[in-house]
Amino acid sequence: MTKNNDLFKNIVDALVNDGYAIIPNALHTQLPSHLKKIAQNNTDFQQAGISASSQVHTDSLKRRDKTSWIDEDNSYQSEYLKSMQDLQDTLNRELYMGIQYYESHFAMYEEGDFYEKHLDAFKGSKNRVVTTVYYLNDDWEESDGGALIMYGEGDTPIKKVLPQANTLVVFLSEKFPHEVLASQRKRFSIAGWFRIDK
Ligand code: OGA
Ligand code: MN
Repeated sequence: MTKNNDLFKNIVDALVNDGYAIIPNALHTQLPSHLKKIAQNNTDFQQAGISASSQVHTDSLKRRDKTSWIDEDNSYQSEYLKSMQDLQDTLNRELYMGIQYYESHFAMYEEGDFYEKHLDAFKGSKNRVVTTVYYLNDDWEESDGGALIMYGEGDTPIKKVLPQANTLVVFLSEKFPHEVLASQRKRFSIAGWFRIDK
């Protein structure tokens, strides 16, 4: 079995048992630094929006990060997208999730930026079913802030994840409210969603 097959099997098992998976050293070790370079050279980061009943507006009280959609580039972005395509195929094959496509963007948090507690999909909206977050930052320390806090039933915090390079977080989009604490450092990640609409 290749490393990725083990990875996808672990994700499937964790989604079935817990509804989420947190995997350090998930993909090719060098991939995060290449992707971070692409993000750093990217000039079209836009102020991120808040989506409510299909209207997207920006609200800097709720979130401060900037985002830029990821496209095929026959290089590192494609390598990342290929892994997510394989994950999609595995989720559809093993869990019959009926995922149609994956959308993802780079997100950049500058010093002081945060994202308040939110859900990526409203219950019953049936579009985003599984969320991924992939981190690109070397040597992240607790004191750098910017942790992802995941909440469980009753809104109790269940996990705190540092945005360390090559950590991949996967969770059921409708089930887990989450937030990003104020970052004390520039913070890069790729947020993505498997969707069941077309
Ligand atoms: C998001 C999000 C979490 C993170 O973009 O919807 O929740 O840790 N990101 O970057
Ligand atoms: Mn989110």
